[in-house]
Amino acid sequence: MDTNNNYKDFTEKFYEVEEITDTFKDLQWGSSESQKIRFQYLTKLFEEDTKEISLLDVGCGLAHFYNYISENNFVNVQYSGLDIQPNFIKFASKKFPECDFINKSLFELETKKKYDYVVASGTFNIVLPNTNMDDYLKQNIKKMYELCNKGIAFNLLTTNTPSHDMESINACYNPIDILKLCFGFTNKVNLYHSYKINDFTIVMYK
Ligand SMILES: C[S@@+](CC[C@H](N)C(=O)[O-])C[C@H]1O[C@@H](n2cnc3c(N)ncnc32)[C@H](O)[C@@H]1O
Repeated sequence: MDTNNNYKDFTEKFYEVEEITDTFKDLQWGSSESQKIRFQYLTKLFEEDTKEISLLDVGCGLAHFYNYISENNFVNVQYSGLDIQPNFIKFASKKFPECDFINKSLFELETKKKYDYVVASGTFNIVLPNTNMDDYLKQNIKKMYELCNKGIAFNLLTTNTPSHDMESINACYNPIDILKLCFGFTNKVNLYHSYKINDFTIVMYK
């Protein structure tokens, strides 16, 4: 990607916390419920796959998605988490030594190793300085798609919301534009736009 490294420094600073509480607050979510309902829709990607699967969580934060899938009996998942924020990765590695954690940005990750499924929750929610956000998102989706054997899922904030309570830091996307973009990769695309007022999820398969 030809964007400079500004996005990395900015993101690292943005998600810096003085003390990790291991709650939704550290990840800048509004509530634990809003974090969990996003997880619920991400699992649609692999919930019918009963085989042993490998999963990469891009922007894993404190690996709360791993908590969620463990609590919901997805015992067949080999979980890896990737995050720019070193303190999150350090914390998550201690919490879940059975998982693999990588302190890199998505663009720094090589595509030699593939994962069955790749997910991202809240990873593309902030406006980055001096960055064309449409292009940034497109490059991220492309990279996630390259990294997967079977499919990817991610959520975004929607422009299609009646209450305009979004702050200027929130990166919002038009779901129809995103759907069109994803059809450029595959026809096997699902859009979920009914579970929350300000968010939507894309699930797509190879
Ligand atoms: C809103 S938090 C969500 C964390 C986690 N997915 C959850 O829902 O609990 C977004 C996370 O994405 C990470 N992030 C943002 N852009 C990233 C990138 N390009 N590569 C890796 N991590 C990224 C941030 O550091 C932050 O931890």
